[in-house]
Amino acid sequence: SVAKGPYAERFGGQLVLVTGAASGIGRATAFAFAEAGARIVAVDRDAEGASRTAEMARLIGSPEAWGETVDVSDETAMEKLAEKVAREYGIVDVLVNNAGIGLSGSFFETTSEDWKKVLDVNLWGVIHGCRIFGKQMSERGQGGHIVNTASAAAYQPSKALPAYSTSKAAVLMLSECLRAELAGKGIGVSAICPGFVNTNITSTARFAGVSADEEKRRQKKSSRLYGLRNYPPEKVASAILRAVVRNQAVVPVTPEARGAHFMS
Ligand code: NAI
Repeated sequence: SVAKGPYAERFGGQLVLVTGAASGIGRATAFAFAEAGARIVAVDRDAEGASRTAEMARLIGSPEAWGETVDVSDETAMEKLAEKVAREYGIVDVLVNNAGIGLSGSFFETTSEDWKKVLDVNLWGVIHGCRIFGKQMSERGQGGHIVNTASAAAYQPSKALPAYSTSKAAVLMLSECLRAELAGKGIGVSAICPGFVNTNITSTARFAGVSADEEKRRQKKSSRLYGLRNYPPEKVASAILRAVVRNQAVVPVTPEARGAHFMS
């Protein structure tokens, strides 16, 4: 095996499924598990991106890696995916529910459609993943781990991100409830809470009612406040692997996320 890094032994031979794996934190996470020797299912609604991640994962060290196209908010599509994965690749050992979309805009600027869109992906996507793959893990009876990408926004209120923050607060609580339920089965559940990370979501999120200029000003202000804009997704990926190895419940990542968690 070409597995390397501190966790090579831990993940060699395991099957790891990452959603939102075409870009940013999900892609970096797929690569980190690949480096540790895991077999990878890279899932995204961006088909090309998912297969590109799988291809790279193989080059990096994954013995087998596949790209799968699915919209995580589509329950039927997620069920079909889980059946296919179980049939063709095996039962997932580590599930990373990471797919998410950004949405900023004050509460009164946020339309019902905006709320629905963001909750459909950020919350329902995680619910579907946990229920469908968690059930398979639990029925197999050999443990496993579920990681949900929440956000520091889950515990740090902001008037610019009410819908997004609410979706992430729900993911955080869902993770803690499920952690309690699955503990007896040897299945760990972790919620990862990054602050500002340099990815597409932070540069191309749709901003309801917020002009591009306003958004730039907001980002500049937060970068002044936090003094950082360049936290790499690779460091979030390392935190995710560590969370699985150490079975950590809630993991604030980035200095400002740790600060806000300490205060909350
Ligand atoms: P990204 O935009 O680079 O990656 C998100 C990926 O999810 C994309 O490849 C996209 O195609 C995919 N995706 C979106 N909706 C999907 C759907 N319905 N079904 C399947 N795939 C879908 O963004 P990033 O930053 O890597 O985000 C990953 C996660 O991290 C998200 O849940 C985000 O909310 C969370 N997060 C990001 C932070 C940041 O500052 N970048 C901070 C805290 C949390």
